[in-house]
Amino acid sequence: MDSLKSETVKSNNSPIGVFDSGLGGLTVLSAIHKLMPNEDLIYFGDSGRTPYGTKSKETVLKYTFQDMNFLVKQGVKMIVIACNTASACSLKTVREHYNLPIVEVIEPGSRAAVNATRNGKIGVIGTAATVASGVYENAVKNLLPDCDFHAKACPLFVPLVEEGWWDNDISRSIAAKYLSDMKTSGVDTLVLGCTHYPYLQKVIGEVMDDGIVLVNSALEVAKSVRDEIAENGLEADSGKVGKVSYFTSDSVDKFASLGSVFLGEEMKDVTKVAIDKEWDGGAFGEN
Ligand code: DGL
Repeated sequence: MDSLKSETVKSNNSPIGVFDSGLGGLTVLSAIHKLMPNEDLIYFGDSGRTPYGTKSKETVLKYTFQDMNFLVKQGVKMIVIACNTASACSLKTVREHYNLPIVEVIEPGSRAAVNATRNGKIGVIGTAATVASGVYENAVKNLLPDCDFHAKACPLFVPLVEEGWWDNDISRSIAAKYLSDMKTSGVDTLVLGCTHYPYLQKVIGEVMDDGIVLVNSALEVAKSVRDEIAENGLEADSGKVGKVSYFTSDSVDKFASLGSVFLGEEMKDVTKVAIDKEWDGGAFGEN
């Protein structure tokens, strides 16, 4: 792993690397592209191994290192972990191993929730791994110690989203089942603590009571990326038109066709990568 520490930033016009277990991180990618259209972006979606949220922490950590190694080898100047599960399972560990700025999704989402709540009752929904990690509870209570915090794992949401079932009877009845306790808990703010969930925002909003603020952390993450780039003096040339390239560990055709639906525009420039070959086999520590 020491060789990764010595990787250096190529130039300010180097791309920003963004990754997720699949297509969910496109919510974050789109927000970054909108806010900083001059930045080149590389997106890796690990569709061949999705979902991460049902896997053990050790497995998610291994996948996260492989994903990050791949992006580092592409010469990125910064990495955005556009996956709550990967952030929850690995953040402290990856920060110790890589010598480049890393932005994750949990702190920005927690900050947005604390800013939004009026009654101090905050809910978070996420994958089983994210909820079990307790990272949101820690992050939210760090910012608002007296907060009444509620969390619920919704493991079927990711396959529903990846299947494109964003708004139908099945997604609605699954959401109603998962969210019934959350509804009665009195939360006025609910964090969509998985980058796939914004695609179910309509259904989740219908199931939860009117007036509940749904926090989609994608925009908050994009703002954190902008701030981090500015702090590190890494801004790309202002007149540049940023290009976006995509990599997946599964079928390119499937990724591009579903990805185009997710993006709302044609997904071009998709390449398949054998991600399990990118891992160098070095030791990695526990988070
Ligand atoms: N989109 C991811 C997240 O934010 C991961 C979902 C999964 O692969 O289970 O947690």
